[in-house]
Amino acid sequence: MDEMLLSKQKVLAKVGSRPYFMKDNVALYHGDAIWLLNQLPENSIDMIFADPPYNLSNDGFSVHAGRMVSVNKGDWDRSKGFEGDYDFHYQWLDACRRILKPHGTLWVSGTYHSIYQCGHALQSLGYHILNDISWFKPNASPNLSCRFFTASHETLIWARKEKKAKHTFNYNLMKEGSWPEDKIKKPGLQMRSVWSMGTPKPTEKKFGKHPTQKPLDLLKRIVLASTNKGDIILDPFTGSSTTGLAAVMHDRKFVGIDMEKDYLELSKKRLLNM
Ligand SMILES: C[S@@+](CC[C@H](N)C(=O)[O-])C[C@H]1O[C@@H](n2cnc3c(N)ncnc32)[C@H](O)[C@@H]1O
Repeated sequence: MDEMLLSKQKVLAKVGSRPYFMKDNVALYHGDAIWLLNQLPENSIDMIFADPPYNLSNDGFSVHAGRMVSVNKGDWDRSKGFEGDYDFHYQWLDACRRILKPHGTLWVSGTYHSIYQCGHALQSLGYHILNDISWFKPNASPNLSCRFFTASHETLIWARKEKKAKHTFNYNLMKEGSWPEDKIKKPGLQMRSVWSMGTPKPTEKKFGKHPTQKPLDLLKRIVLASTNKGDIILDPFTGSSTTGLAAVMHDRKFVGIDMEKDYLELSKKRLLNM
């Protein structure tokens, strides 16, 4: 049995519940992220990408494709009040820190509704922030009220588990690589912390829609920047498993978790049709 498979089985066997789906180097689990994370062995994951609920399903309205649409994504996105939301972010970030390897890193994405709470919680837990990335969306939806600026970016915090650990950063690949999707990145110059990328293309939604799906270009860049071939990547809020697709495309292993079966079904279709 090769070393890659051994380490994968060590991680997956400890989860304590059967995977919802398994294929090659991918395992998807159905259930509550905090509970499942607590079943995994400590120091076992190289990188975590987390796109937690933004808690902005407040019965308001937004614009999509020129139409007025509800901002509600699902019950999983409803706010539990300031303290309830903070508590949730603190708990899943704590559970993630335990399972990260000492040199491991964590990415969290969010808007102003959630990202400051996540930033406070992760610093309180001892993570060390490496960067905050601004993902600029050139095709962001317009603002309906015309009473404030149009939200056109999301923030991604990149942090390592330990202040003194030696984390992975594929500097040369970021600097010299080809990034045709990003009009801001200049060839041969250092990769900066503002990334310009559109929202997911229609081809990325051909198997169905997730209301907060991330673009594949964004996850490809994150995977390539902060992991190496064979690394284990985990996404505790996997949704349509954009992270899983990016991981498999670049020969990494992937563990995804979601509490909604419909999203795991969508993930399965995407992963089986790569
Ligand atoms: C913002 S979406 C992630 C979208 C994903 N990045 C993608 O590209 O499709 C958050 C996901 O977390 C899931 N979720 C929310 N609370 C959860 C919990 N406590 N445990 C597991 N999954 C949860 C939701 O069902 C939703 O699919």
